[in-house]
Amino acid sequence: MKIIKVQDNLAGGQAGYQVFADALASGADTFGLATGSTPISIYDAIAASDLDFSQATSVNLDEYVGLAADHDQSYHYFMQKHFFDAKPFAQSFVPAGDAQDISAELTHYDEVIATHPVDLQILGLGQNAHIGFNEPGTSFTSQTHLVDLTPSTIAANARFFADAAEVPTQAITMGISQIMAAKQILMVAYGANKAHAVKAMLEGPVSEDVPASILQQHANVVVILDEAAASLL
Ligand code: GLP
Repeated sequence: MKIIKVQDNLAGGQAGYQVFADALASGADTFGLATGSTPISIYDAIAASDLDFSQATSVNLDEYVGLAADHDQSYHYFMQKHFFDAKPFAQSFVPAGDAQDISAELTHYDEVIATHPVDLQILGLGQNAHIGFNEPGTSFTSQTHLVDLTPSTIAANARFFADAAEVPTQAITMGISQIMAAKQILMVAYGANKAHAVKAMLEGPVSEDVPASILQQHANVVVILDEAAASLL
């Protein structure tokens, strides 16, 4: 793993932008994208650049169940606002959280991922070391699945909703085996509230109780951390 320590998330945005730029320059054409507050500075740096994704494909990690694509807390909406409005892709995939038939949507998304192998996957880190919405205990062999979010994840995400009761309790997420199939992974974490998860991810045993620990077994991972997130290493 290559670990890049940065001063703050603005510097992390530049470092992450460079990983995207290098991937594009070396021919990557399918990008696995993530939501959350962490990637925003990278997406902002990309939006302000001359990078061109108009011939590329994006495949997002996850989406809340029950939110329509135009709900302002849906991950569809997030991607539109923070990335696609400035940098449209030739095609973009995000799981349909409002699908009538969730099980058919899971199968469909597995097909999407199989048809569009990811060259570069960006990941944020949950405080409990989840990746995508793969919560602790998720099988490392998992594919796209429906998740009951843990109380801690619901609480962590409540800040984005007017009322905690509005936070969805389920999500569709790409599975860990599919994340690991990406050719390159960019993991980004900022802040003291991620420090324990960062330490467990990088220095702990590889365990399904710590979903991000599987990244120790991936051959091409770049990790961007600020000082607070790296403080327990
Ligand atoms: C959510 C997302 C994850 C993200 C995590 C951390 O649970 N499903 O993909 O990594 O939040 O979010 P943040 O970057 O806001 O700390």
